[in-house]
Amino acid sequence: MGQDLPSSKNSANSLTVVDNRTGKKYTIPITRNSIPATAFKAVSAPKSSTDRDEDETDKGLRVADKGFLNTAVIESHITYIDGEAGVLRYRGYPIEQLAEQSSFLESAYLLIYGSLPTNNQFSSFETEVLQHGIMHADAAGFFRSFRYDAHPMAILTSAFAYLGSYYSEANPSLEGQTLFTKGDKASLQNMDKQIYRLIGKATTLAAMAYRVRQGREFVTPPTGLSYTGSFLYQMDYLGHEDYRPNPVLEHALDVLFLLHADHEMNASSTTVLQAGSSLVDPYSAVSAGCASLYGPLHGGANEAVIRMLISIGSPANVPAFLESVKKREKVLSGFGHRVYKTSDPRSYIIRKVADEVFAVTGKDELLDTAMALHDAAIKDQYFVSRKLAPNVDFCGLIYRAMGFPLDFFPVLFVVPRVVGWLAHWRQMMLHPDGVKIWRPRQIYVGAEKRDYVPVDQRVPVDAPKMSPSVVPHSG
Ligand SMILES: CC(C)(COP(=O)(O)OP(=O)(O)OC[C@H]1O[C@@H](n2cnc3c(N)ncnc32)[C@H](O)[C@@H]1OP(=O)(O)O)[C@@H](O)C(=O)NCCC(=O)NCCS
Repeated sequence: MGQDLPSSKNSANSLTVVDNRTGKKYTIPITRNSIPATAFKAVSAPKSSTDRDEDETDKGLRVADKGFLNTAVIESHITYIDGEAGVLRYRGYPIEQLAEQSSFLESAYLLIYGSLPTNNQFSSFETEVLQHGIMHADAAGFFRSFRYDAHPMAILTSAFAYLGSYYSEANPSLEGQTLFTKGDKASLQNMDKQIYRLIGKATTLAAMAYRVRQGREFVTPPTGLSYTGSFLYQMDYLGHEDYRPNPVLEHALDVLFLLHADHEMNASSTTVLQAGSSLVDPYSAVSAGCASLYGPLHGGANEAVIRMLISIGSPANVPAFLESVKKREKVLSGFGHRVYKTSDPRSYIIRKVADEVFAVTGKDELLDTAMALHDAAIKDQYFVSRKLAPNVDFCGLIYRAMGFPLDFFPVLFVVPRVVGWLAHWRQMMLHPDGVKIWRPRQIYVGAEKRDYVPVDQRVPVDAPKMSPSVVPHSG
């Protein structure tokens, strides 16, 4: 007995599945080398003696993929990665060509709108972005409300959500659900205005998070500088007349920003889309992305790399450190990637940038340790067999040489990644089929239905993890 999905009938480009529980055969279409998970909902069987009610056997198969190891959540035109071949392209353009010939803001245009801009298109985009750098004067009070030792990522994550409170016209909860999905001229203008604002103000918020920690007065974004030049100015300006950032460092930061602008469905971009799929405003979605990025498995890794190198100390301690990684006592931060299994193409460009920066700043004292670690790990069978190669997070050494504080490194990842988040968010809002809320399923493995037990009849459960911890109070 067979069951065909209409589009796949008699097509060679399909998958035939036999459900051995029932003997039924199903044909599922293959499109772009992918199969729709929803097709498996048709694959149902009567409940067997070993199935629980909660398995919902008669309601169709669920597709389990913990950690999204092989699930495509969108169709995208934006970024392509071939993790085996070490390829990264923005809208079809190889990252190496863009790093060499483009700029961060030009690549931002490319990522968001899909093509390289003409001179006029670029200059009006740049003007829009840069003129939106200015923050409301009240924002100073917001930044000063943080404790002196607040982590800049805590400040920045809050700041994006705070920023949204200024723009009720960008809030679908107030202005109507179709605010960004309509796709007419007014809706597109509104959407692009929020994009200019978010990219333009990302540097301002980041610089304010830095300056409040340093006890420096805030500065108004300058005119006549590039995006990264303006950022460095806002961080470093200390009253010197005609202060201009060092052009080599400005260019290096621009290249690093370009390399970090997008990376398809990484954890934070997925978070932005997950939040955005509820049609929340883009400021809240970006704030959610910021929180997701901060974890040490993602954007927090560049900070973790330096903390790791500091803890290793001299190159002589590298072998002992690697042994403890192999015993799973420690993690080799800056190595390994969910997608790249041979090399991360960005890591080669970063090495070139590092040479340019070190020529200005002098070599970072941790460089020798980093190189010893790199050289030992790439030859070690443990890492080779698991296809663990250096990732982009060794750029922390460049940030350190440029004088950025360690806990500011994830902020330097967020600022450019705002572009990728917005490119994905815009693409999602304008999808011809509309926006579907992202609501994954789960496999419920908990208790079956049971009756409430009155308190005097309960047997205490106090096994570890199964009851609240007893926490000592400091007083
Ligand atoms: C990036 C990362 C989270 C990818 O995780 P993942 O795709 O789920 O890969 P896995 O955790 O399944 O790793 C596969 C194997 O390599 C090991 N491994 C992965 N990264 C490792 C690392 N940095 N150091 C030591 N071992 C590592 C795992 O222990 C696992 O070994 P096993 O199969 O013997 O259990 C992971 O490589 C990592 O934690 N790297 C360090 C943090 C980092 O630099 N993150 C930034 C990424 S840009």
